[in-house]
Amino acid sequence: MTKVLVVLYSGGKHAEEQPKLLGTVENALGLRPYCEKHGLDLVVTDDKEGDNSTFAKEIVDADVLITTPFHPGYLTAEMVKKAKNLKLAITAGVGSDHIDLNAANEHKITVAEVTGSNVVSVAEHVVMTILVLVRNFVPAHEQIVSGGWEVAAIAKAAYDLEGKVVGTLGAGRIGFRVLQRLKPFDCKELLYYDYTELPAEAAKEVGARRVEDLKEFLGQLDVLTINAPLHEGTRGLINKETLGYMKKGAWIVNTARGAICVAEDVADAVSSGHIAGYGGDVWPKQPALKDHPWRKMQNPFSKGGNALVAHYSGTTLDAQQRYADGAIDILDRWRNGKAQEPANLIVENGEFSTKAYGQRSKK
Ligand code: NAI
Repeated sequence: MTKVLVVLYSGGKHAEEQPKLLGTVENALGLRPYCEKHGLDLVVTDDKEGDNSTFAKEIVDADVLITTPFHPGYLTAEMVKKAKNLKLAITAGVGSDHIDLNAANEHKITVAEVTGSNVVSVAEHVVMTILVLVRNFVPAHEQIVSGGWEVAAIAKAAYDLEGKVVGTLGAGRIGFRVLQRLKPFDCKELLYYDYTELPAEAAKEVGARRVEDLKEFLGQLDVLTINAPLHEGTRGLINKETLGYMKKGAWIVNTARGAICVAEDVADAVSSGHIAGYGGDVWPKQPALKDHPWRKMQNPFSKGGNALVAHYSGTTLDAQQRYADGAIDILDRWRNGKAQEPANLIVENGEFSTKAYGQRSKK
């Protein structure tokens, strides 16, 4: 019997209140009827850390692993070794960096994700977070909740987005949608930094200019938005040195992956006032540590500059429906020996697929 192991966050009473929370253990991506109909053994858990976790125990004879980037079952090289039967790892969402792709290749495990399923959800969150930071919204709101009223304290660090230079590191599906949504704000300039040039028509539509040198790119920005995958070429890319390329008072929004930034270096840059604010929803390890330095970092001038949340930008209820349907489609194709959508494939038959361009091991 084919065994499907699913690692998701627990929904508790929220899953009862909201049946559309498909990405929870309780609602299991809507997989239960599918698995019953086709006689698949379905195991669903949120218990994923350590050797004694349900994830570590059940992976041993699972044929398929399904997990989301929001509460990822980390498929490390060690886990892959344990997973003797594993043939397919599905990411219900976008971003498969929780999987050791080299180990997956070595063991001929197919890795696929639901490309495009939440790209609009994230792009909307990026634009919201840019505005929240630039307009100094968080301390303004906190002041009201705590009974205060001191306009000057807020206005001294509040700006318009109009007239600012905004750049995206990564101009793929999300990065491009961010640029599209920023166009009506009449920014001074929209820039992008990517291995790949946008098609001429797309660049013209959004009016974005490519900058090929990272230092030159970062040095021009008032706002940096990070929209590239996490791989060996992006891990720790935003660090003490590259933060130093940025102008004093710039803002950073990272909804891509926490580990693209060096956590301590970002916390230092915000706490020293060099970076006006940092926002986003992704953390180096999830759930984030209770004492992670980003939780309490604050810009000394604005007493704000922190627009961080738990990883949820790509898990709106609309997105959950799309990635749940997409995960079932990938499973169904695999069971029936049908080819996967090429855009969904990360690795197959021991090879990196086109989507993983740039993510190959440099070893
Ligand atoms: P995509 O594959 O369409 O675009 C990624 C772009 O990044 C490509 O154009 C690629 O050439 C570029 N890139 C790769 N390495 C780069 C580097 N070193 N420097 C500059 N550019 C580089 O991916 P998509 O759909 O836009 O997603 C991007 C990332 O966003 C995902 O890999 C994932 O980590 C993250 N994500 C976060 C979500 C959330 O809920 N916060 C949800 C969905 C995705």
